[in-house]
Amino acid sequence: MYYYPYVNRYLEFYKYSIENLENFWAFQASIIPWFKSWDKVLESNHPFYRWFVGGYLNASYVCLDHHVENNKKDKVAYYWENEVGEKEIISYYELYTRVNSFSKFLKDLGVQKGDVVLIYMPLIVDAIVAMLSVVRLGATHNVVFSGFSKNSIVDRIEDSNAKFIITATHTYRRGKKVDLLSTIKEIDSQSVQKVVVLDREGNFVEDGKFVKWPENLEFAYTEPVPVESTHPLFVLYTSGTTGKPKGIVHSTGGYLVYVACTLRWAFNVGDDSIWWCTADIGWITGHSYVVYAPLALGLTSFIYEGAPDYPDPSKWWSLIEKHRITEFFTSPTAIRMFMKYDLEFIRKHDLNSLRMLGSVGEPINPEVWEWYYKNIGKSKCPIIDTWWQTETGGFMIAPFMGIIPLRPGFASLPLPGILADVVDENGNSLPPNTKGYLVIKAPWPGMMMGILNDDEKYKQTYWSKFDGMYYPGDYAIRGEEGYFQLLGRADEVIKIAGHRLGTTEIESAILENDFVAEAAVVGVPDEVRGETVAAFVTLKQGINKDESLKQLIISKVREIVGPVVVFSSIFFVDKLPKTRSGKIMRRLLKSIIIGKELGDVTTLEEEASVEEIKKAYEEVKQSIS
Ligand code: WTA
Repeated sequence: MYYYPYVNRYLEFYKYSIENLENFWAFQASIIPWFKSWDKVLESNHPFYRWFVGGYLNASYVCLDHHVENNKKDKVAYYWENEVGEKEIISYYELYTRVNSFSKFLKDLGVQKGDVVLIYMPLIVDAIVAMLSVVRLGATHNVVFSGFSKNSIVDRIEDSNAKFIITATHTYRRGKKVDLLSTIKEIDSQSVQKVVVLDREGNFVEDGKFVKWPENLEFAYTEPVPVESTHPLFVLYTSGTTGKPKGIVHSTGGYLVYVACTLRWAFNVGDDSIWWCTADIGWITGHSYVVYAPLALGLTSFIYEGAPDYPDPSKWWSLIEKHRITEFFTSPTAIRMFMKYDLEFIRKHDLNSLRMLGSVGEPINPEVWEWYYKNIGKSKCPIIDTWWQTETGGFMIAPFMGIIPLRPGFASLPLPGILADVVDENGNSLPPNTKGYLVIKAPWPGMMMGILNDDEKYKQTYWSKFDGMYYPGDYAIRGEEGYFQLLGRADEVIKIAGHRLGTTEIESAILENDFVAEAAVVGVPDEVRGETVAAFVTLKQGINKDESLKQLIISKVREIVGPVVVFSSIFFVDKLPKTRSGKIMRRLLKSIIIGKELGDVTTLEEEASVEEIKKAYEEVKQSIS
């Protein structure tokens, strides 16, 4: 049933990669064109690692000029559609011309190497044009997911010191127009010099620093600026355990080599592929596997702006049929959602073009894996479950080309060059089938260069828990044959529909309601979305626990963080349980919600005795009932 034949050859290849790490990566690096080769494959200044040092390249050249110069001028780069029926087919040459011309426009506006340009756009070809035009000039992009709202954007502008914004008037979602420009207009930031607006309807009026993305720009060749391999290609903000989202900085050379290699290794994509990764460009999956890897490899992709099941649950399957998609890559949340619909929506479409199916962003439960394998892949497409993170740049653990035996629910073995392990609290390797912490024990080219403006946080978050090992913050089990099963986050990061959010961002938004005294949120299991948010809120003195306040809380969070936050419940409590040093015992709150026995949490809360925890547990329980 599954594909077995090459497993030993994979293991040999893997062993070679680990034992000859630098040579291995030096060899792989020729997957992309360089203006100048590197002097040093790897420079280690633990925990800061720099790849292909002394090498020069330009990401826009790698993704466009290189293909135009090598017989791929007329190859389709993207097929694009959206839910209101607009369509676009764009060849590598057309993308090249649009990027050149828009780069020239940006250059004339003053964008240059070293600048940060914030992009707040929907999943349209112009968003990709914007990204590539920015990096063509040697500037760095900072893409913000269009489902985030005002405060998330403001924080990112300030932290990255963005001087320019590129946005669009609106996007579409489930038959509704979602305004993006008005969100940007609410922002009053001194550091922003110009806002370029893509007018999707023709009624935008230029005003002060708000300028229009010119239509029908004439072709103007714009020299791609050669940058060092370690030049920041982009900064992408992601949530962690504490504080505001962190700006994860990725390099140009190491990152591009890594995403190109890993896409080929995981999905065995080739010249005849029609690749569809359903992620939005606002997340790392979109950066790496909608934009940079497919373009670096010169592939044809399909992209879609709209909801998966709108206007009806056969939308995605009709698109697979229509575009003859060969590799399809989505999230467990999307699959779980489709599992609830009648199979007829799938059956009426011919999905025979599919060769590989992928999963990303959250653990995929074995039942979901099986359903996906059987109903979408018709029991003939390997499921490529890819474990990785914003910080890792690209896939880390995934079944290489689907040629190793697959196990439902397991991301399987690390990709070449990735030394992964599962360890206990003291960093010792654990025997098979024991839950522990996932760690990575050797550097890889796609790894982040650091956190923008915060070296200390970088060291402390990823490198301080275990000596000399990268700590991603995930629980895992290593099963038989060394297969990895990922078990979700070991920290306070919440994954809602695969979207990564931190407790602090949501709590701060709840606190913006002036009737709220304190707030604590936890992620709780959700059948479709993986996790949703449960909030425990104490109200200011004199405020009644009125149900209508809950709606105000939800609206406020949507306004401040964005509609990506989905609540399962909000509880008004008299008091939040805290340790002696004032830390909220979130895990205790989570136990209350999921009805776990108190015994499970006592070891997890330092600085509080069992008695104190028991008391706190009872108090909260009583006040919510
Ligand atoms: C989780 C998304 C289980 C994990 C690419 C990780 C997964 C976090 C998987 C990173 C997977 C990602 N199986 N869990 N295949 N892929 N995760 O930065 O907890 O948005 O740490 O990157 O998603 O989320 P991020």
